Amino acid sequence: MMDDETIAQRGAGTPRPVLRRIGPDDDRQMREWLIEKILPLERAYLAHEEPWRQSGFSGTREGWDACRRPVAECLHRGGAFLDIGCANGYLLESVIGWKRAEGMAIEPFGLEAGHKLADRARRRLPQFADNIRSGNAWDWAPPRRYDFVRTELAYVPPVLRKRYLGRLIDEFLAPGGSLLVAEYRSRNQPYRVPWCDVALRRWGFVVTLVRSGLWEGRELTRVAVVEKGDGGIAIAAESANHFSEGASRKTILPISSP
Ligand SMILES: C[S@@+](CC[C@H](N)C(=O)[O-])C[C@H]1O[C@@H](n2cnc3c(N)ncnc32)[C@H](O)[C@@H]1O
Repeated sequence: MMDDETIAQRGAGTPRPVLRRIGPDDDRQMREWLIEKILPLERAYLAHEEPWRQSGFSGTREGWDACRRPVAECLHRGGAFLDIGCANGYLLESVIGWKRAEGMAIEPFGLEAGHKLADRARRRLPQFADNIRSGNAWDWAPPRRYDFVRTELAYVPPVLRKRYLGRLIDEFLAPGGSLLVAEYRSRNQPYRVPWCDVALRRWGFVVTLVRSGLWEGRELTRVAVVEKGDGGIAIAAESANHFSEGASRKTILPISSP
């Protein structure tokens, strides 16, 4: 795995923010995060029958559609789509169907920390079973590159998030590919906590598209897109408070790095 300075220096040739170096504690923090926050999800998801609940969505099928279609809206063409944290594969199945209805062919790939969930995903998508792997996204070595990669910040501890995203862009995405950073909220979460796109800009990534999912009048999903471009990572020279949260929504912004 590359360190942050290497990642930050790649790409567009503009001055880059210097990112934090890998610390000796990082792998330990990741292990603890996985044990405390991530692995317990599997049992909770599999306690339910409905496929959307086995993917962590606690609502109705209609709510699922409203809160997950924004992911599909960020796929502007067909191609290889890796869903990191694919759970039982229901998002992959949904995205394939939604995009097929628009005439786009999505080749699905999944990575999931929970072995039983990964098994469910393989059974849900038997024709793509070989594309679905078990592993921790933090240190998983991708066997190929993908046109689209979806993740969530919550998959790694806060101090590792910026570097995690840099590695996804650098090592998982094909040239010209897009990283989709999704954030899902419940109705009980406080309104004022900043969404994922705010964190991305603060870290210096150039967010090119933001999509929201509303259910019963409240925004419960946000998906922020960072494009790799052909020249490397889309990361701004100045970290990014030049776009206000409101102004960026549903707006395509130019990548400032060539
Ligand atoms: C909310 S579900 C997402 C399901 C579906 N992809 C979606 O977007 O609706 C999150 C899933 O991510 C998995 N996950 C969390 N952290 C992970 C990590 N570091 N590596 C691999 N999978 C992870 C969890 O086990 C869980 O099944």
